[in-house]
Amino acid sequence: MTADKELNRRTFVASLVAAGALPALGSRANAQNDNGGGAGGAGGPVVIASGNGIEAVREAMRQLRAGADPLDAAVAGVRIVEDDPNDMSVGLGGLPNEDGIVQLDASVMHGPTHRAGAIGALENIKNPAAVAREVARRTDHVMLVGAGALKFAKRMGFKEENLLTDAAREAWLEWKKQLTDHDDWLSEDEFDLPSKEKRSMREVMYHTGTIHLSVLAPNGDLAGTTTTSGLSWKLPGRVGDSPIIGAGLYTDNTIGSAGATGRGEAVIQVCGARTAVARMEMGDTPAQACLHVCKLIADRTSAPRLLNERGEPNFNVIMYAVRKDGLFGSAAIHPIRKFAVADAQGVRLERCASLYEK
Ligand code: GLY
Repeated sequence: MTADKELNRRTFVASLVAAGALPALGSRANAQNDNGGGAGGAGGPVVIASGNGIEAVREAMRQLRAGADPLDAAVAGVRIVEDDPNDMSVGLGGLPNEDGIVQLDASVMHGPTHRAGAIGALENIKNPAAVAREVARRTDHVMLVGAGALKFAKRMGFKEENLLTDAAREAWLEWKKQLTDHDDWLSEDEFDLPSKEKRSMREVMYHTGTIHLSVLAPNGDLAGTTTTSGLSWKLPGRVGDSPIIGAGLYTDNTIGSAGATGRGEAVIQVCGARTAVARMEMGDTPAQACLHVCKLIADRTSAPRLLNERGEPNFNVIMYAVRKDGLFGSAAIHPIRKFAVADAQGVRLERCASLYEK
């Protein structure tokens, strides 16, 4: 970014502050979104994550308070979940693809340098977020995938290991036993843009866990990471939103950081995280920005196989965002979720706002 553009952006954010659209840094905002979904606003440090990240936000906050770089704090936080064999959506123990092979995706963004790194379809390495950080630090690239990603990780000293736990293997075998039309191949009548009347009999019985974590450091610097084993039983080589910069993760050090969990295909199709950050730049609260993305996804989803009987998406996407001033929020399409927060008030789960309130 040129100095002029940077100045314009700062001026724009400053004008929002002056106009009352954004609270000034360090001030306490009138922060509670009226649809739930988060609070904050007292400046950093703040760490937010998906609901499976309660220990991750605790660790990231501990690191921030010890003076760690925000990206190092973020990667240290999600490592706890990547290492946990009981979380079947991330790292070790993640659910495998159609062939029974665990393929991991991850991305990182470092606000102060605007550097990004990403890894797609990585096998045998349980900490893809740390590998993505090395892509950002050690290469002139942003994304490495597949065999090249594994070769790079090994060169960086990461150890290969079997990531398929007994529990994940059993779940995969169970899915194979029940295999009918519950896979990612579309039948012929599902190829075309379908009419809403044409309901699909194809249930979505997949798991799309993931952890997203964003950090606002005490000095106002931002960073984020998203790491996942992706959609269970996916086609080999399928890459979701988590390693796509602008979809599963986006961080802009002058505005905020955002990320996504849930159905990656839907997030990619609306550039979810970048859209959320752009909305915050326009003056949305983080919860409003997250809700905007959820609504965009719902409005753009028309394939019958992806709609329930009420015409709503039959999948979930959950967005998370933290703004430069410390205000944070989260929103989901369907109201089944909480998200993890660590800030001056402690470590806790908070309710996500949702598009379809029950
Ligand atoms: N959001 C994770 C995935 O779809 O792979």
